[in-house]
Amino acid sequence: MVFPDYDTLSRHAASEIFLKITRKLNANQKFVLGMATGNSPIGLYKNLIELFKDYQGSLSGFHTVNLDEYFKLPRESKDSYYYYMTQHFWKPLADMHESFNLYTQTIIPDGVAEIPEAECKRYEEAIKEIGGVDVQILGIGTNGHIGFNEPGTKGNSRTSLVELAEETIEVNKAHFGGDPDLVPRQAYTMGIGTIMEAKEIVLIASGKSKAPILQEIKDLKKPTEDIPASFLLEHPHVEYFVDEAAAGK
Ligand code: F6R
Repeated sequence: MVFPDYDTLSRHAASEIFLKITRKLNANQKFVLGMATGNSPIGLYKNLIELFKDYQGSLSGFHTVNLDEYFKLPRESKDSYYYYMTQHFWKPLADMHESFNLYTQTIIPDGVAEIPEAECKRYEEAIKEIGGVDVQILGIGTNGHIGFNEPGTKGNSRTSLVELAEETIEVNKAHFGGDPDLVPRQAYTMGIGTIMEAKEIVLIASGKSKAPILQEIKDLKKPTEDIPASFLLEHPHVEYFVDEAAAGK
């Protein structure tokens, strides 16, 4: 769906996701929210936190799973995705709701795990144990990446340690004081095969830098490894939350 601007998009995405979460929690069922970092979902998280302020129920059945984490960045690093999540979502939620424990109800790759293969296995098993992701939030890279699944990634890939594309390093350097040399070259990412197992997907795209890649995907007949997000064409339940700039209007 196309929204006039980022704020409207964020509000709508938040209220839809809030309803999905609370519907299940109110029925004493678990809800697992797959989360992305980056600029795109910040407005959504802000609005979700607002909505949770008035929620009277328990969040003990609420769990989150994060898509990715930079390799070798410790959780305390201000550039880690762990830190981002703490700032934008986990801590504000835990401060309001005692029933949300940000240590036991969150799953995210550990950037400084000693053995990468073991870390990928632990993460995949943790997702399985929790019963899989109900709704996975995604952003999209200007090169079509989802998570850190860069062009060339296979559609059945599982969680792994991957190399970042040059284009991703160029875009993400803004978060590292503009210096590309400070951007980690590798990251853990949930695989495309793993993402595709989420029951539902919500993709958020805002701003004109996203318009060309979205147009390319729209013009495709079937998925291609050149554009990892195109694998979503084969997912049965994807909702696109796009603002007018990203829609090329
Ligand atoms: C972040 C992630 C990335 C971003 C993408 C878009 O966890 O998985 O795929 O969603 O790079 O980033 P923004 O939203 O900053 O344009």
